[in-house]
Amino acid sequence: MTAVSSNTIFKDNIFAGKVLLCSGGGSGICRGLTEAMVRHGAKAVIISRSKDKLEKAADEMRKATGGVVLCAAADVRKPDQVEAAVKFTIEKLGRIDYLINGAAGNFLAPFQGLSYNAFRTVIEIDLLGTFNLTKAASEHIKASKGSILNISATLYYTGLPYQQHAGSAKAAIDALTKHWAVELGPFGVRVNGIAPGPIADTEGMDRLGALLEVESIPLQRLGSVKDIENATVFLFSDAASLITGVTLVVDGGQWLNPRNPAYPAMVLNPISKI
Ligand code: NAP
Ligand code: COA
Repeated sequence: MTAVSSNTIFKDNIFAGKVLLCSGGGSGICRGLTEAMVRHGAKAVIISRSKDKLEKAADEMRKATGGVVLCAAADVRKPDQVEAAVKFTIEKLGRIDYLINGAAGNFLAPFQGLSYNAFRTVIEIDLLGTFNLTKAASEHIKASKGSILNISATLYYTGLPYQQHAGSAKAAIDALTKHWAVELGPFGVRVNGIAPGPIADTEGMDRLGALLEVESIPLQRLGSVKDIENATVFLFSDAASLITGVTLVVDGGQWLNPRNPAYPAMVLNPISKI
């Protein structure tokens, strides 16, 4: 069945015959990225911990697009679970061309409110999760001369307070983007990242919005999931065939002019947990 029109400036079927594996694809930004890839002809498998959430999202995406979206419940912190998700993808769809590492966890926490386990948890989900899933899928991506996209953030560019856990995880993810671009390039695999700015109507924005002053964003608006979809379709498309090792910031210029309405009061008088 032909997927429902993509409604973007890119041609509809540019990813026909291709398969996407996307962690975090059951909600928020990465759900949008999955749906955009499916509208452009790809088949997809979405991964996250909650089977119910995945099944509902996959069902809605199938109905909206007429395309193929399957689910594999897995915790990206668990290598055996991500290997099972990759095996499921190959059994059901035969190949993996595109991988999106989008699964993440975040919350605002001052230094003294961030427990040892809280820091480790975010590093494990974001950084180790990105490594685990990519390692498990890498031979299939090499076989298809595919492409990898790591979802990052600009948090560490300026040392945003209350965000050392997520910021350091995303910094290391950006390092992986570069290492993998160099090591996988000769196999025909491109590896890039997208660092979204604050994106309206997402869990991330709900959790971090208190640190943001929208008027300080040079382009005077929050991002939309559609903005990240367009950047993703571009980076996976042949239009980006010489682009690798890059983390593309899609934030309306936000990180260049960050004003935090809660600073410095939040640092001087922190509440232990938000
Ligand atoms: P979201 O909807 O909460 O997406 C995060 C996803 O990760 C969820 O679907 C969650 O599903 C999954 N997940 C969490 N822990 C997991 C684990 N251990 N194993 C497997 N899956 C796991 O949040 P979002 O705001 O759309 O963020 C999506 C991505 O964009 C993240 O990488 C985030 O850092 C990045 N980002 C967002 C913003 C923003 O403004 N929203 C800005 C910059 C960067 P389960 O709970 O079912 O596991
Ligand atoms: N502030 C400070 N610490 C927090 C916290 C907060 N708001 N929320 C959780 N923690 C701590 C917990 O107290 C725990 O530490 P402890 O054992 O020392 O008490 C540690 O983090 C792990 O929490 P837990 O709930 O067991 O982890 P989890 O693996 O079930 O969930 C989270 C991971 C905490 C990141 C959870 O918020 C989540 O699942 N997030 C996914 C969605 C998301 O964050 N989306 C936004 C993406 S930008």
